[in-house]
Amino acid sequence: MKRRFFILFMMIGVALSINACNSDNDASSEEENQENINANSGSGNLIVFYSWSGNSRAIANELHSILNCDMVEILPATPYTTDYNTVLDVAQSEISAIDRSGSYPSITNNLDSIGDYDAIFVCYPLWWSRMATPAQSFLHKHSEKLNGKTVALVCTSASSGISGTVADARRICPNSVFTEALHIRSANVANARNLLTQWLETIGLSGSSNTGIQAVNNADYQIYPNPARDYVQVSGEFEQLTLLNANGATVAETRENIVSVKSLPTGIYFLIIKSKTMKEFVRKVVKM
Ligand SMILES: Cc1cc2nc3c(=O)[nH]c(=O)nc-3n(C[C@H](O)[C@H](O)[C@H](O)COP(=O)(O)O)c2cc1C
Repeated sequence: MKRRFFILFMMIGVALSINACNSDNDASSEEENQENINANSGSGNLIVFYSWSGNSRAIANELHSILNCDMVEILPATPYTTDYNTVLDVAQSEISAIDRSGSYPSITNNLDSIGDYDAIFVCYPLWWSRMATPAQSFLHKHSEKLNGKTVALVCTSASSGISGTVADARRICPNSVFTEALHIRSANVANARNLLTQWLETIGLSGSSNTGIQAVNNADYQIYPNPARDYVQVSGEFEQLTLLNANGATVAETRENIVSVKSLPTGIYFLIIKSKTMKEFVRKVVKM
């Protein structure tokens, strides 16, 4: 009964999806996507996506057009069937294998440079109220390199809530810094650009912070730990430290070499270091 009901609402969800199932899962779309892929620069943001029927691909492409950053498609070692009923069964047994024995389906990606990015966006569908298994495999394969990295999840589903998928990501990458995740229902994929833009502002990763400040590296100052949980410390001689949130509001100010971030919400902050010669240097700080 449960399964019959599930299949019914899934059919509605899939019918509402703006992208046809099968064509998005074939080799031609893979080739098409290769043109967008450039995962070698190893700096700034990275978008990673897996899509079975095309929605996550469309969302990732929108995000890419906003952020203009590197993008990588997660490629299962064994391509999934294009038959809907069969993929339901395959997905269910892969999720059971993960839960039972920590056995993740193979993927061909091996992104050595992933640790060099500042933030990783992961776009994926929800399967049986869980993160689609290829996306779980990707996080699992790269989890050590994602320690301390900002991870921003974008999940699409027909109707189910995404908390189970967020729990999957947190379980696989316990040392990553997760922003608030974004849920885009299949029926809303056409509106993805607006939803993504608002969400990027909320999580402070829009790339156009209201501070108008550009992060500047200055070898005279070391900031550690970064990401930070309780405090950040700054080495070197300076006049004053000011910590701004992503909206440019001052959240801390001191002449000491330590700034407490314990009570601040997780997210991106900007630390302005005013030097003894009254020059200002800005560094990005991640509160975990
Ligand atoms: C194997 C499988 C399981 C799914 N399980 C659910 C579910 O539990 N709840 C739900 O609302 N949608 C479910 N869906 C629907 C997808 O999450 C939804 O159509 C999504 O937008 C598809 O994204 P994609 O086009 O990137 O693959 C499932 C789809 C598949 C293929």
